[in-house]
Amino acid sequence: MRFLAIFPALLCAVSLILAFLCLFSGHGTHSFMEDYAIVTLNTSRLGENVFNTSSSSSSNPFTAFLHNVTSTIENDIEDGLNSLAKDLGIHDFYSVHILDFCEGYYTPGAVPNATLSKSAISKNVTKCSNATAIYNFNPHQTLQQELDNSGHSNINITALGWPNEIDTAIRDLRVAAKAMFVLYCIGIALVFIAFSFAALGICFDGRLNASVNILVDWLAFVTLGIASAIATAIAVKASDVINDHGSEAGLHADKGTKFMILTWVATGLMFVTSLIWCFVCVKGRKRTSSKKLSD
Ligand SMILES: *[C@@H]1O[C@H](CO)[C@@H](O)[C@H](O)[C@H]1NC(C)=O
Ligand SMILES: *[C@@H]1O[C@H](CO)[C@@H](O)[C@H](O)[C@H]1NC(C)=O
Ligand SMILES: *[C@@H]1O[C@H](CO)[C@@H](O)[C@H](O)[C@H]1NC(C)=O
Ligand SMILES: *[C@@H]1O[C@H](CO)[C@@H](O)[C@H](O)[C@H]1NC(C)=O
Ligand SMILES: *[C@@H]1O[C@H](CO)[C@@H](O)[C@H](O)[C@H]1NC(C)=O
Ligand SMILES: *[C@@H]1O[C@H](CO)[C@@H](O)[C@H](O)[C@H]1NC(C)=O
Ligand SMILES: *[C@@H]1O[C@H](CO)[C@@H](O)[C@H](O)[C@H]1NC(C)=O
Repeated sequence: MRFLAIFPALLCAVSLILAFLCLFSGHGTHSFMEDYAIVTLNTSRLGENVFNTSSSSSSNPFTAFLHNVTSTIENDIEDGLNSLAKDLGIHDFYSVHILDFCEGYYTPGAVPNATLSKSAISKNVTKCSNATAIYNFNPHQTLQQELDNSGHSNINITALGWPNEIDTAIRDLRVAAKAMFVLYCIGIALVFIAFSFAALGICFDGRLNASVNILVDWLAFVTLGIASAIATAIAVKASDVINDHGSEAGLHADKGTKFMILTWVATGLMFVTSLIWCFVCVKGRKRTSSKKLSD
């Protein structure tokens, strides 16, 4: 029986590592595991329609004002090669992680074309916010600040078509983001306890150990499960709002599929682990009862 405890110990260890990677993705100035963001906001073509003077310009109240801004912006819209965002002094993307958010530019270009496939585009992170700053993630404010700092303070981001709905949605998601962070921390602690108990189970046989393990594994499974569900809900809600209301303004958002896989695998492993302990428990009981019968 004792050797069976090796499997839960291994699964807990893997789950622990995956949950840790979820928590710390995007950490550091150069963003550890940048591809594992919860959601990525792509601002590389923000204001494209506003600056496109060849479109129905007369009906656009901002065109006259923005026409002044710079002719390089118009040229960049025309050829579609360079980052429109860079001209404005903002970044191509803003990626949201559990602990912070990062910003940077797409290389070699932001928009896929005949020679540049989407998979060949990579993210070049230039900066990440301080840890836990995700609570204060406010893209509206960040983008306006960057516009101001680059000498484009005459451009109001609302005039570029930034929709109010995004601000409202992000305000609504702030509490969920805090709860998610706390639940990941509790979940990781529980997985660590589950791992320790499973490791003890390798050394000491006993049914008490198995039932304690079932309890801890279930708690870890439920906590990580709720945290993963909140993360998934945040990713879906944020990207839906941005794509529904922001596409006119050139905004685009991607759900973090890789992050979802990581967090749900970590959760699923804890479920499997609890099943193994159930099996150990039942088998141990059968063996002792059959022993009693033969006595
Ligand atoms: C600019 O507007 C014109 C007319 O609506 C459209 O044909 C063109 O594709 C637009 N250019 C860009 C880069 O969006
Ligand atoms: C465009 O720039 C010129 C010169 O800098 C200025 O006189 C004019 O008022 C500006 N037009 C608009 C609509 O901002
Ligand atoms: C595709 O985009 C890349 C990067 O912006 C650029 O170097 C290349 O010339 C573009 N190719 C075509 C066919 O437009
Ligand atoms: C960024 O958004 C633009 C405009 O929505 C889109 O054309 C482009 O493919 C996106 N780039 C990436 C790398 O997702
Ligand atoms: C990433 O950005 C830095 C500075 O912004 C630049 O020096 C570096 O060449 C970029 N990397 C790639 C792969 O474009
Ligand atoms: C990050 O934290 C450091 C020190 O804690 C502080 O000096 C800096 O201003 C912070 N940066 C941001 C963007 O909040
Ligand atoms: C931008 O415009 C909105 C409404 O058009 C206004 O409420 C806001 O104060 C403006 N922001 C700046 C920085 O001028």
